Amino acid sequence: MPGNTFVYSTCLLMAVLCVAVLATHGLNEDAVRQTIRLTAATSFGLLICAFAARPLYQLNHSSLARSLLHQRRQIGISVAVSHSYHLLTIFLLNWVLFDGGMSFQQSLADLGPGIAVYVILYAMALTSNSFSQRLLGKNWKRLHRFGIYSLMIAFTAAYTGKAIESGGLYWLISSAGLAAFLLRVLAWQRQRTPQHSGDTVQN
Ligand code: HEM
Repeated sequence: MPGNTFVYSTCLLMAVLCVAVLATHGLNEDAVRQTIRLTAATSFGLLICAFAARPLYQLNHSSLARSLLHQRRQIGISVAVSHSYHLLTIFLLNWVLFDGGMSFQQSLADLGPGIAVYVILYAMALTSNSFSQRLLGKNWKRLHRFGIYSLMIAFTAAYTGKAIESGGLYWLISSAGLAAFLLRVLAWQRQRTPQHSGDTVQN
């Protein structure tokens, strides 16, 4: 896929999905909450693809794994695009709840972890280019490794909490996150075996 096609397509598809939900159910609290849940799920789905791309390729050189690995940077930026819709719909919820005003129900202490995750997410998205990679040197890899693990932990923990609370589909979503971590462990173990120790793929 050429250039940023994947990112632009995500941007367009997310807009279409959110507008479709709001057009179907009306601009009310329930519908906006649906779009918030939808955007959280699309962000996590994309994040899992970006996180699993390398271990999947190390374990199995299939065409799907190769194409995921090839598109990984675009998929990563698309996580930021999708989660920007999460942010927009959160603002929309406040607008709906407070009748055009802006007031958050939670305290800054409650919002803190969510804001920190957004800071990490945008730091990663803004440095997802070759120029930043050259400029930051070894720190680029540190930032992106720390970032992707932080995001995966935050999402998996949030969905596991939801699964414990509400069960059903949330168990499936949370298991997908846990499976992605398992893939990383398996790929790491395989990497340590003497016959595969030379198969390195850059992060
Ligand atoms: C300060 C920033 C944030 C605010 C104010 C916020 C607010 C919300 C709200 C209002 C909901 C909908 C609850 C409902 O009606 O069911 C929600 C759902 C959710 N958010 Fe966020 N969020 C923030 C950041 C994040 C971040 C950074 C993540 C990523 C880890 C995240 C992941 C989720 C998940 C997984 C759900 C549950 C979706 C579901 O129930 O299906 N949020 N958020």
